[in-house]
Amino acid sequence: MKVIKVKDYEEMSTEACTFILNKLKQLQKPVLGLATGSTPEGLYKRLINKYNEQEVSFKDISTYNLDEYVGLENDDPNSYHYFMHDKLFKHIDIPEDQAHVPNGVAKDMDKECQNYEKQISDAGQINIQVLGMGLNGHIGFNEPGTPFSSRTHIVELDESTREANARFFNSLEEVPKKAITMGIETIMESKEILMLVSGANKKEALDRLLNGEVTEDFPASILQQHDHVTVIADEAALEGK
Ligand code: GLP
Repeated sequence: MKVIKVKDYEEMSTEACTFILNKLKQLQKPVLGLATGSTPEGLYKRLINKYNEQEVSFKDISTYNLDEYVGLENDDPNSYHYFMHDKLFKHIDIPEDQAHVPNGVAKDMDKECQNYEKQISDAGQINIQVLGMGLNGHIGFNEPGTPFSSRTHIVELDESTREANARFFNSLEEVPKKAITMGIETIMESKEILMLVSGANKKEALDRLLNGEVTEDFPASILQQHDHVTVIADEAALEGK
C-alpha cells in the first residue's frame, strides 16, 4: 500500500482530488466507485470546483456507490441517494443514468444485489474505488465478520456503526438496522483503490489497516492484499508514524 501523509482533512481532500483527476485523464470511459460518510465530502467539493472551472467533465464517467440503507426512500435526507445527489451529482454534468447507488427500497432486495453486481461487471469493473473506513474497520457497510468472498449483499448493521451514524439522524432509533453494500470481493475487484483516512479517532483503525493481521474481523485489512491501493491519511490519523 502506498501511503501519502498530509497535514489535515483539507489537504487530504485536495490530494485526493488531484489523484482522481490525474487518473481520469488517462481513461476514456472511467468507472468510479464512490463512498459516503464525512470523509469524502471535501473531495466532492473540490471535484465540483474543478467542474465549475471546466477542468473536468463527468459526461463520460459512470459512478457506482458502495452502499445504501435498506428502507430509506431516495428522497429521504438520510439516504445515500440523497447524500450523493446533494453533495455531488446535482452540481456536475453526470447523466442521471450513469450515477448508480444501490436501491434500498427494491421490492426484491436479493435481485437488487444481483443486478448491482451485473451492472458493475457490465461496466467493465471499477477503475478507481474511493473508500472511507468505519472505526471497526468496515468498508462500505461490510462489518467485521463479513466473508472476504462476499459480493453485493444485505447486512445487519453493527450497533457501533448505528451509533456512529446516529449523528445524521434525529435519534438512534431512526438509524436503519440493515443496509445493502458491495461485498468485499466486489470492492477488491476494483482496479485501483483510494482510501481516505482523517482524524485522531481513526488512528487505531488506520494502524490495523496498515500493519494489522489480515482478518475478516477487521474488513479493511484485506486491502493489504490488493496491488494498487493508495492511502491518503492526515497527521492526526498517522500520529507517531
Ligand atoms: C459509513 C459508510 C462507509 C464510511 C464510514 C465512515 O458507515 N457506509 O462507507 O466509510 O461510514 O464514515 P466517516 O467518513 O463519516 O467516518
